[in-house]
Amino acid sequence: MSDQSETQSSSAEEERHPLAMETLVALCASRGFIFPSSEVYGGINGFWDYGPLGVELKNNLKAAWWQRMVRQRTDVVGIDSAIISHPRAWEASGHVDHFSDPMVDCRTCKRRFRADQIEGERCPEAPRKRALTDCDLTEARDFNLMLQTQIGASVEAQVTAYLRPETCQPIFTDFKRVRESARQKVPFGIGQIGKAFRNEITPRNFTFRSREFEQVEMEFFCHPSQREEWFASWREERMRFHHDLGFDSGNLRFRPHAPDELAHYANAAEDVEFLFPFGWQEIEGIHDRGDWDLSRHSEFSGKDLIVTDEATKERYTPMVIETSMGVDRTCLALLVNAYTEEEIEGGETRNVMRLSPGIAPVKAAVLPLSKKLSEPARALHADLSRTMNVFYDDAGNIGRRYRRQDEIGTPFCVTYDFDSQDDGKVTVRERDTMGQERISIEGVVSYVRERVEAGI
Ligand code: GAP
Repeated sequence: MSDQSETQSSSAEEERHPLAMETLVALCASRGFIFPSSEVYGGINGFWDYGPLGVELKNNLKAAWWQRMVRQRTDVVGIDSAIISHPRAWEASGHVDHFSDPMVDCRTCKRRFRADQIEGERCPEAPRKRALTDCDLTEARDFNLMLQTQIGASVEAQVTAYLRPETCQPIFTDFKRVRESARQKVPFGIGQIGKAFRNEITPRNFTFRSREFEQVEMEFFCHPSQREEWFASWREERMRFHHDLGFDSGNLRFRPHAPDELAHYANAAEDVEFLFPFGWQEIEGIHDRGDWDLSRHSEFSGKDLIVTDEATKERYTPMVIETSMGVDRTCLALLVNAYTEEEIEGGETRNVMRLSPGIAPVKAAVLPLSKKLSEPARALHADLSRTMNVFYDDAGNIGRRYRRQDEIGTPFCVTYDFDSQDDGKVTVRERDTMGQERISIEGVVSYVRERVEAGI
């Protein structure tokens, strides 16, 4: 069964949510964060492209995760595996037999729906006035969500393979090689960032439920006696990470899985949920997967994936605690969390994307007051852009240029004016307070860098 967290309910918080999804979707397209893939052909359902700002946001999020989860720890190492694994790996993991959603087809409108999204016997596409008898729904059938492809030069010799529906399975198949080559001892973890594919029956809520998406997953291998302890510790650490990304605490919560939601092999699972305009929804899962994955791959491959405790000589299959975050969902949550409309002087309103400086796609914008100042202003841009993503804009009214940067979340605007050449200073304007400070040109790079590096 795929992740089924998306509810149809409408809580009081949702009704009060200040942001309409359409506003964010429109802004994401017009400013170049995220827009439909192959848009010129009308788009393709469940596939999204990240534009110049979106790719920076996404890369910053992935880099923050990698830094925190892999580089800063001595007990976690990283890999980058192939998207396509041996087909037997997906039999061992249970995906070939069980990774499915029950679906129904409507014989009238020819659309397909998840059975749990049908109310009564009416097709969701049917106009209200249409009689129930006009809805001709099939019985629910299981629909495997893995996307398939064919490998091989000739049609006769082709083999069916799957685009991975989660990034963690190659971590399990690589477990022995990575442990030995990286000279790691249990307890330790393996992390990976990468694409995953699910043929979702009803992709929806912008990028929230896509058919191609990215996951950042970490599988932590430990002794059976330590599984509860490590689960608790990773649960805390993952929530800390989300807070450090800049989420408001009122927008985040844990949701433990009820016993009937747990996979048969799982001991415990908790979601980190964010309050989207369409309700509280999962952005990350922390799962105690037991020894299911290693045992199954051992059984199906015939390779021994057991470890030996050097001190006690005990031989055992390690237990796995998994942290699994969706990159696209977290980017979407960051944008929802950051988007603000506020009234400023003169009854004007401004849109501000209050992203933390570390996550913001553009760290600073260099804005010469006149095109005549472009030479020294471009030199400053070149200096700053050696270590960070910086924007240069010399077109139009300065107030409008500030607004454009506010809307995409640029934390600092650096204005080069006619006094700059004489006093060697520029004006740095901070996005949230709109406060301005005059600082020396030589100090600008370290001023911005210090603030960008202060948080995530
Ligand atoms: N290895 C465990 C696993 O894949 P999951 O709950 O199915 O667990 C983990 O997925 C995370 O991947 C989710 O919390 C979510 O952020 C992201 N995710 C899952 N399906 C997705 C989809 N169709 N579109 C976007 N993100 C998705």
